[in-house]
Amino acid sequence: MLNIVILAAGKGTRMYSEKPKVLHALAGKPLVQHVLDCATTLNPQQICVVYGHGGEAVPKAMQQYEAKFVIQAPQLGTGHAVQQAMPHLSDEGNTLVLYGDVPLIQHSTLHQMQQAGAGLVLLTVNLSNPGGYGRIVRNEQGDVLSIVEEKDATPEQREINEVNTGILIAPTKMLRGWLSKLQNKNSQGEYYLTDIVGMAAQQCVSVHTVQPAHEWEIHGINNKAQLAVLERTWQLVEAGRLLVHGVTLADPARIDVRGRLSCGRDVEIDVGCIFEGNVDLGDNVRVGAYSVIKNSSIAAGTDIAPYSHIDSSEVGAYCHIGPYARLRPGTKLHDEVHIGNFVEVKNSEIAENSKANHLSYIGDSTVGSRVNIGAGTITCNYDGANKHRTIIEDDVFIGSDTQLVAPVTVGKGATIGAGSTITRDAPAGELTLSRSKQMAIKGWKRPMKEKK
Ligand code: UD1
Ligand code: CA
Repeated sequence: MLNIVILAAGKGTRMYSEKPKVLHALAGKPLVQHVLDCATTLNPQQICVVYGHGGEAVPKAMQQYEAKFVIQAPQLGTGHAVQQAMPHLSDEGNTLVLYGDVPLIQHSTLHQMQQAGAGLVLLTVNLSNPGGYGRIVRNEQGDVLSIVEEKDATPEQREINEVNTGILIAPTKMLRGWLSKLQNKNSQGEYYLTDIVGMAAQQCVSVHTVQPAHEWEIHGINNKAQLAVLERTWQLVEAGRLLVHGVTLADPARIDVRGRLSCGRDVEIDVGCIFEGNVDLGDNVRVGAYSVIKNSSIAAGTDIAPYSHIDSSEVGAYCHIGPYARLRPGTKLHDEVHIGNFVEVKNSEIAENSKANHLSYIGDSTVGSRVNIGAGTITCNYDGANKHRTIIEDDVFIGSDTQLVAPVTVGKGATIGAGSTITRDAPAGELTLSRSKQMAIKGWKRPMKEKK
């Protein structure tokens, strides 16, 4: 049985922000949400988030999680923070303490802590520069005796390189007892969670230590500089994963994954691309430079040219998209569709082999197969109050600079003359146009500049 307490009450003064620190985003997701997601993977019986600053902002932002949100006010130290959670935890099993501003802790490290043995388990790390951290004090046999905070440490203790990450597992019943005995007689006048380690050692409760697989797992965030560094660290980890799975990245230092990106074989991604939410790229997909793709799937063999934006769309196989294309939510493109530069598609389905290659807006439309949509064509889907659909059937040819005023249907095989404004249904197989006839005015002269 496992309880998880996430400490998230710190003010985050050094972020210089109105937003609580733990709601600042790393890889597009609030810091505390990373911790909640990792915590959830351990299938705990109870998750308890201790929050403090920013009113109800933290519980509100994280309301989708089955967690108990407990306020800590005032904030009297890490031990005091965990105390706030205790009334909500049952005595059975263990309690794991995590931190809302230590976002990248990984399941594997926590799992290793769970396997370390009965008693207290501390996550520690050896740092060449341990400044600022609590030090792990051991006896000659190597048993952990206590944790001493830097501000309370002797010069000799400050030489210790093994530091406390803060993350620990304690038997819940014992934790409750130890916390009730905490005192704040230290240099900071705080109730230190770390003091439970000395109590455990004195009661001959075994104290185990585990080290994280990567140092970045235990990095905490106090300011925007640390946030930026950890963001780049994480993005390099993501890039490394993609490379290991055979994805070609033009530059692993110039990709941002803010969510989950899954790639087939022989995928190529050029520099500066951003992937948000859930993105699936099929085999042989190529993504051109500076494209932004969010919550979308791109099927095999599709080529996305630079500067394309794709949001909540489904793109078929062997399509050509961009450069400078914009696919907005609700776009579904079947196979071998071409969407060219400055073409915007929204809430529309376009069937196989159809093309809109230049400067168009296709909104709330159903487009058949083998349709050619000429440059500058616009579906006028909005009458100022309501949205209406445009239906373009198979094998239609729409001449350039056409306005299709919805609701309107262009029948199968129809041709629309360039420059037409189509307000009524166009019959199948016919040429429809709605423009005045071309004429030439004989003897007309251009105006001349007046002589001064
Ligand atoms: C703490 C540890 C220290 C460890 C370090 C790792 C203690 C006494 N010390 O020190 O051994 O090396 O973390 O970073 O635990 N928090 C609350 N409520 C409070 C106080 C803190 O929720 O009343 C939260 C903070 O938001 C933060 C975390 O607990 O996320 C750590 O608090 P902080 O004051 O930064 O502890 P450190 O002094 O860094
Ligand atoms: Ca502190």
